[in-house]
Amino acid sequence: MMLLKGGRVVDPVNGRDGSFDVLIDGDRIARVGRDLAVDGATVVEIPSGLVVCPGLIDMHVHLREPGQEHKETVATGTAAAVAGGFTAVACMPNTSPVNDNAGVTEYILKKASEANLARVYPIGAVSRGQQGEQLADIAELRQAGCVAITDDGHPVATAMLMRRALEYTRMFDIPVIEHCEEQTLKVDGVAHEGYHASALGLRGIPGEAESIMALRDISLAELTGGRVHVAHMSARQTLDAVRFGKARGVRVTCEVTPHHFVLTDALLAAPVPYDTNVKMNPPLRDAADRDAIVAGIADGSVDVIATDHAPHHYDEKQVEFDRAPFGITGLETAVSLCFDRLVHAGCVSLARMIELLSVNPARILKIPGGALSDGAPADISILAPDMNVTVDVARMRSKSKNTPFGGWKLRGGVAATIVGGRVVFVNGDSRLRL
Ligand code: DOR
Repeated sequence: MMLLKGGRVVDPVNGRDGSFDVLIDGDRIARVGRDLAVDGATVVEIPSGLVVCPGLIDMHVHLREPGQEHKETVATGTAAAVAGGFTAVACMPNTSPVNDNAGVTEYILKKASEANLARVYPIGAVSRGQQGEQLADIAELRQAGCVAITDDGHPVATAMLMRRALEYTRMFDIPVIEHCEEQTLKVDGVAHEGYHASALGLRGIPGEAESIMALRDISLAELTGGRVHVAHMSARQTLDAVRFGKARGVRVTCEVTPHHFVLTDALLAAPVPYDTNVKMNPPLRDAADRDAIVAGIADGSVDVIATDHAPHHYDEKQVEFDRAPFGITGLETAVSLCFDRLVHAGCVSLARMIELLSVNPARILKIPGGALSDGAPADISILAPDMNVTVDVARMRSKSKNTPFGGWKLRGGVAATIVGGRVVFVNGDSRLRL
């Protein structure tokens, strides 16, 4: 047994925010209470200022295995996850082959159990091979362990396919996660359509390419009663679409990424013009979009913060902006960005940050976690809100280093990560001794 003594426990589901002890028995939480004294338990003193909370869950991660192991593997991706404070990740199906059948799902789960770090919840494809033609065998995927379906990387190709996916998933009450992008409007765009893309001669992608697709899918969720989850929302128009859907009682939820609430398309021009580490899909948008997204986080319109951790090899990114793949890593910078830019900036409370990073992803995916309840799996993140962090790319666990945050100085970090009662990460820079 392990007794975490004296931390500030923040557990919104159980209405706790204060000094409590947490008793872990094997892989479960035995009790949370004040001044617990337990014979035989190993006592871990939590230094003052640290926060004990339900394990963080990143519901949008690309682990790249099978098929793109030069970018990331389940083992390196889950090592990055626990170093970033995440006890669980949901992984996207745009692997090679695509996760559109039980064989691939089982392979990912086997790799996850071998790595034995963060929990891994695979997300299956909507369509076979993500080709946008025939539905994948969703019942088979669900039975094998998938917690949602998506064609992420691409939108669900047609309204009819989306309708069928929403109808079919109602049987299992799992969400269809949508990469909202109206492709005839996006065409071959590579950056946000605006001043900076024009000045640099880059083809633009307007915010409406995202919001038009979100509106299609919200309408179809209303038609079918299915659940749609808008992935990596970047544009103010899409936020309006989600608010519209929620006001009508449509079963729509949404996530935003740290890069979209922190960065803008001004980074296309400076400090490094054409830096491919600021190329992602959806693109960084302008300051009005970024501010709208922050307002949506603060007012409750946004349900989840997810990273869209998209590792790419150095050689793949080291090319002209047009030719580089979309995506940046995110698992090891998310918590620091949330603390620095949301909590310390006075935009959200710590409890709300934990709702966005733990409570709501667990609720949307219907997976264990999101609360420090008696008898629940002992998945716990220990956070250090005041830790001074300098983002050191060389020390990152991810196999890929494609982040624009290298060298950033941020206030707030991760002290330790506990999965199923096992300490899987301790930050040597924290005052925690585990
Ligand atoms: O930037 C992105 N990268 N956006 C996506 O939708 C896909 C992802 C990837 O797989 O690299």
